[in-house]
Amino acid sequence: MDLYEYQGRALFAKHGLPVLPGGVARTPEEARAIAADIDGDLVVKAQVKVGGRGKAGGVKFAADADEAAARAGEILGMDIKGHTVSAVMLTASAAIAEEYYLSYLLDRAERTFLCIASVAGGMDIEQVAAETPEKVAKVAIDANTGVDEATAREIAAAAKFPGHVADQVADIVLGLWRAFVAEDATLVEVNPLALTTDGRVLCLDAKVTLDENAAFRHPDHEEMVDRSAVDPLEQRAKEKDLNYVKLDHGSVGVVGNGAGLVMSTLDVVASAGAAYGGVRPANFLDIGGGASAAVMANGLEIVLSDPAVRSVFVNVFGGITACDEVAGGIVHALDLLTQRGETLDKPLVVRLDGNNAAQGRAILDRAANPLVERVDTMDGAAERAAELAARGN
Ligand SMILES: Nc1ncnc2c1ncn2[C@@H]1O[C@H](COP(=O)(O)OP(=O)(O)OP(=O)(O)O)[C@@H](O)[C@H]1O
Ligand SMILES: [Mg+2]
Repeated sequence: MDLYEYQGRALFAKHGLPVLPGGVARTPEEARAIAADIDGDLVVKAQVKVGGRGKAGGVKFAADADEAAARAGEILGMDIKGHTVSAVMLTASAAIAEEYYLSYLLDRAERTFLCIASVAGGMDIEQVAAETPEKVAKVAIDANTGVDEATAREIAAAAKFPGHVADQVADIVLGLWRAFVAEDATLVEVNPLALTTDGRVLCLDAKVTLDENAAFRHPDHEEMVDRSAVDPLEQRAKEKDLNYVKLDHGSVGVVGNGAGLVMSTLDVVASAGAAYGGVRPANFLDIGGGASAAVMANGLEIVLSDPAVRSVFVNVFGGITACDEVAGGIVHALDLLTQRGETLDKPLVVRLDGNNAAQGRAILDRAANPLVERVDTMDGAAERAAELAARGN
C-alpha cells in the first residue's frame, strides 16, 4: 500500500525523524486555518500517489495564510498524471542550501534490502541516476544484521556526504532504517533530504510503501487505507476472506479454485476472446480449496455484481474438494442468491474436471438451471464464455 506524503511524514515523525510541522487540508478554508498556525513562509503540496508533483505545478510557496488558501485553491482539483488532487499538505518552508536523496527498499531481484543515497538529490534524481550513476551510492543491507551506527556511517561515507553533515545524516540513515523495519515497509524514500541554510538536515518529502502482507501486525495502518480508492467489490470480497481482483476492460467474470488455475483461466479467456473482438476477463475470484455453497454464493454474488460482467466462467478442477461438492455449491449458490433477491440474468459456463467430475456434472444437469451451461474442457468453456460475453446476454 502506497501512502500519501502526509501519512509518510507522520510515520517519519513517529520514529523521530526530523520533519517540519504541518497539516493536511481538503478545502482552501482548511488550508488557511492550518497555515495560520505555521510561522513564516509556507509550502502547499498536492497529495497524490504519484511522483513528479513539483514539476507538474503541485508544489507552491505562500507567504501567509491567505496566500496559502489561494494556492491550495489552485492545486485542489488539479490533475497530476491522471490523479485528481483532493488534498494538500501545508508545511513550513525551509531555506534549502542542498538537496540530498535517501531511501531503503526491498530489492526483489537481488533478494536483499538496499539503501540508496546521494548528495545530488531533488527533483532531477532520476536524471542523475541515469547520467551520473557514480553520484548515487547503493549499499545492500543484510536483513539479519540490519543497519547499525557503523553501517549508517559507511552509507554516509559511500554517498560522500560532507563531514559537517555526517552526524545528522548518519542519525537519519539509522532512524529511517528503524522506521522501515518497524512499519514493515517495502520502500521509504526521502527526496529531498534537505540541508537548510542554518545547517539542519530535514526530511522534506516522504514516500512510503507498506507491505500489506504484514497488515495483521499493524492495526494502526488500517486507518491509512484510502477508502475512496478501493474498489467496493474488492472491499466486500476482503471482508469475506475471498481473493477477488477487478481487471480493466473485460467482460468475462472468472471464478476458479486455486490461484494457479485462476491465472491460467485468465490466459485462456483472453486467448479465446481474441476471436470475439478482444473479449477479456473482467475480474477473477479464487474460491480457494474449499467451495461450500456459502463460499460459492459469496463468490458468485461478488463476480455477478460487477457491472462489466456479461458472462461468468466457473472453472473448477476437483482435488481435495470434489466436483460433486462444488456442483452442489453452485446449485445452492444460485438458489441462495435468488432467495436474497438478486436478479440473476448473466449466463454461467461451468467446467468441472478432476475428482468426481462425472457426479458433479450430473448434479448440474439434474438442476437444469437455464443460466448454467456445462462445458467439459477448459478451452471449450473459455470459448463459450467469451462468445456469450460478446453477444452480451
Ligand atoms: N518544506 C519545503 N520547504 C522548501 N522547499 C520545499 C519544501 N518541500 C518541498 N520543497 C521543494 O519542492 C521540491 C519538490 O517537493 P517534493 O520533493 O515534495 O515533491 P516532488 O519530488 O516533486 O514530488 P515527488 O517526490 O512525489 O516526485 C523539492 O525538491 C524542494 O525543492
Ligand atoms: Mg520528492
